[in-house]
Parts: sequence; structure tokens; C-alpha cells
Amino acid sequence: MTAFKDKKVFVKTYGCQMNVYDSDRMADSLATKGYSPTEDMNEADLVILNTCHIREKAAEKVYSELGRIRKVKEARSKAGKGEMKIGVAGCVAQAEGQEIMRRAPVVDLVVGPQAYHKLPDLLDKTGDGGRVIDTDFPLEDKFSALPNAKKEVTRKRGVSAFLTVQEGCDKFCTFCVVPYTRGSEVSRPVSQIVAEAKRLAEAGVREVNLLGQNVNAYHGEGPDGADWGLGQLLFRLAEIDGLDRLRYTTSHPRDMDDALMAAHRDLPSVMPYLHLPVQSGSDKILAAMNRQHTYDDYVRLIERIRTVRPDIALSGDFIVGFPGETDDDFEDTMRIIREVTYGSAFSFKYSPRPGTPAADSDEQVAETIKSERLARLQALLTEQQKAFNASKIGTEMTVLLERKGREPGQLVGKSPWLQAVQVDAPEEMIGEIVTVTIDSMGSFSLFGTMIGHPL
Ligand code: 5AD
Ligand code: SF4
Repeated sequence: MTAFKDKKVFVKTYGCQMNVYDSDRMADSLATKGYSPTEDMNEADLVILNTCHIREKAAEKVYSELGRIRKVKEARSKAGKGEMKIGVAGCVAQAEGQEIMRRAPVVDLVVGPQAYHKLPDLLDKTGDGGRVIDTDFPLEDKFSALPNAKKEVTRKRGVSAFLTVQEGCDKFCTFCVVPYTRGSEVSRPVSQIVAEAKRLAEAGVREVNLLGQNVNAYHGEGPDGADWGLGQLLFRLAEIDGLDRLRYTTSHPRDMDDALMAAHRDLPSVMPYLHLPVQSGSDKILAAMNRQHTYDDYVRLIERIRTVRPDIALSGDFIVGFPGETDDDFEDTMRIIREVTYGSAFSFKYSPRPGTPAADSDEQVAETIKSERLARLQALLTEQQKAFNASKIGTEMTVLLERKGREPGQLVGKSPWLQAVQVDAPEEMIGEIVTVTIDSMGSFSLFGTMIGHPL
């Protein structure tokens, strides 16, 4: 009898948390084919690049990475270690699958985010040197076809896990590729999400972060057959034993409905943190971006959220140098940041994405101006983040202990506001939610002393 050969897969992930989650899903589905994950590309029988297309020269990065991988593949083959297959997944695969096949003959498989559940079958088809591409948008429910959803594989994900509840986007912001690469909005049925959340809780997960490109546009089929929104879903998930912390990301201001507000108001397990991108503070630019809200709409929304949950920390995404952005428009963005105040934020220079409306504008902003604006904006956001962190010194908070710290005897956990908190605690306490007094802060984290564990 020939021994079953344990094969190894190396997955390199770029971009957003959705990709991190998808990489895990791919690894899960490949486990059914005898693949186990490796961190070392040299020993991989299969390498998958899970790519991101949202900003800057994404495709070029993929081609240069493929050049490096080709060398590893050749060295491996020379050393008689067997063949290495190479796959490209994610949004670059979706956007330029054919082009990848043409430019990179080393690639065996191109698979778009809508086809991950077919990965084991697609891989089989690459058997005799065949090359396979699947970037279709299927009509069937791709979520229910996941091995994960069929309970075949449950892998422990640590104490904090992502759970995809929605994918795709129908908003068509004029700068963004997501509606093209991820397709239109699809939401998983509530029963599937609850089943997965229960499995995670049984595996020791204490915190679940619900993922979706437009997560608060979630509209899934409820157990009663009715259409459930994200607020209702959160109320249901809050009933699951062991899941003490719920988060969701990433949201659109237009989809913050009353049920979601109620979840923030009434559910202690919904963490007081909200990532709610505004992108710009200029009404002119917001309109050109097709964001479908104004400066005032956003500020009023934040006021409502702070009324129901006064301790909430806000996070956002900002783009500088969108086509047509003048100095005055940019000052409006600085003004909205000062008015709202953020606990953390992400900010980017506008980067034209082929195929999106804004890329064709003839009012592109010069690179030097983008750089100056980004530097000023980031300085303001960093100042706000520091002030927010400093405001926690001397206070008590709950911390979910997640992993070992750099020093022996130290653990790193997360505050309700997504700050990293370092405390002295034994390793056995990983997975506990403890009360901590914050003593001081560093550039990236808070330092605290444990005073008890309530949960
Ligand atoms: N240029 C710059 N930033 C972008 N983002 C999306 N598309 C672009 C682009 N073309 C940013 C937005 C979004 C975040 C995920 O990435 O701020 O919210
Ligand atoms: Fe892209 Fe978000 Fe706009 Fe959708 S809502 S188009 S994902 S920026």
C-alpha cells in the first residue's frame, strides 16, 4: 500500500480582512484533499497568492511575486522535491484572470473569490499540466457550498475570529473596484451564520468579527423566512454562550439603521467601536464619489450613535486627492475629522483603478499635492489616536487576552476599542476576558495591570 502523501499549501494573503478569512476558507477546503498549511514556501506543493486590487500597482506586485515564486519552483524541481503548483486568487485574479494566464505561464490556476468552494475540483483539473481559470459569478449559493458550512472541517482560529456574513457591494463609489471584483451583494442566511458562530464558540472563540464589504447592508434570510438586517443578526448572535464580544466591519453610513443602533444601545457584547468610513468631508467630492450622503448627514449620524453609545470609538477611511479635490475640499476633510474625532483611522492617496468612473476623470490631482495632503491628514489622525489612547490611562477596562507578548510572562490582549493592551499574565489565561487598569501607553499599545476576571 502506498502511504498517503501529506501535501503542503502556502497561502500568501494581501489586502483586507475578507481576504484573511478567505485564505482560511481555502486552506479548509484544501484540507479535504490532504493539504496542510505551511509557512515555508520552499516546502509547498501548492502556492496560492490571495491578491488585493483596491489600491496602487496591485497587479504589478503580483507579477513580481510570481517571478520570485517561479525561482523557488524551479529550485524545488531541480532538487527532486516534486512539482509545485501555483494559484492566483482574490481580486486581481477576478479583475485580470486572462491577463495573468497570458503574462505568467508559471500559473496553473486562477480562481476568483466567487469560486473558492470549487478549489479542490479546480485543482484536480490542473493534474496533467492543464491550466484552469474560474472567475465566473455563480448563480448558486456559494456560501452553502463551503466545506466549512457542511461541518466537514472546523479549525481552531484562536480566541478572536472573523466570520463572513455578506459579500459584494452595490454602492458603486466611483473610485472603488469592489463592486466589479466581488460582485453584487450576497448575504448568508442567519441559520448558517449562527451554526458557524456556535462552532467557533465551541472551539474556544470569544470574539467574532462579522465581515462584509458592506456588512451593514446585510440582508439575510432569517429562521422565520423574513429578511433580517445586521441589527437583528447581532441580537441573535448575542444569545450564543461564550461569544462575549461582537464586532462588524466594514460599514457604509447609509446603512446604519435603527435596529443596528438598538444593537449598539442594548447589547453589552457589541463592542463600542465602529468603523464607518466617510472618505471625504467635501460635499462636492462626496457627490462625485457617489457616496450618497453629505458632511451634515454623516455628522448627524455620528451624533445619534454617540447618544445611544456615548463611549463608542470611531474609525474611518479617508481618501485624499480624489479627482477635482481642491485645497478647500481637502480642508473640509480636515474639518470633519476635527468635528468627529477618531480613535483610529486609515487614509490613502487616491489611486485610479482601471474600469472605475473616477479613473477616467481629467481632473486628476498631482502626486506631490496628494503626498502633502496625506501627510497633514495623517498627522491630525495620529494626534487624535494618541489623545484617545491617552484618555484611557488610569481607567479600568476589560481585555480579551489573545496571545503571548514579546517578554516572557507577558500577554497581549485587546480592549473593547480595539487597542492592543499588554499585561503580565500566565499563558494559560489566553482566551480569558479580564479587567485591567491602564498604567501607560507606547506608540502602538497600552500597558496595564490585571485586577480580576469578571467573565
Ligand atoms: N484609491 C484610494 N483608496 C481607495 N480605497 C478604495 N478604493 C480606493 C482607491 N481607488 C480605500 C477606501 C476604502 C478602503 C477600503 O480603501 O478608503 O474605504
Ligand atoms: Fe467600495 Fe465600500 Fe463604496 Fe462599496 S461602499 S463601492 S466597497 S468603498
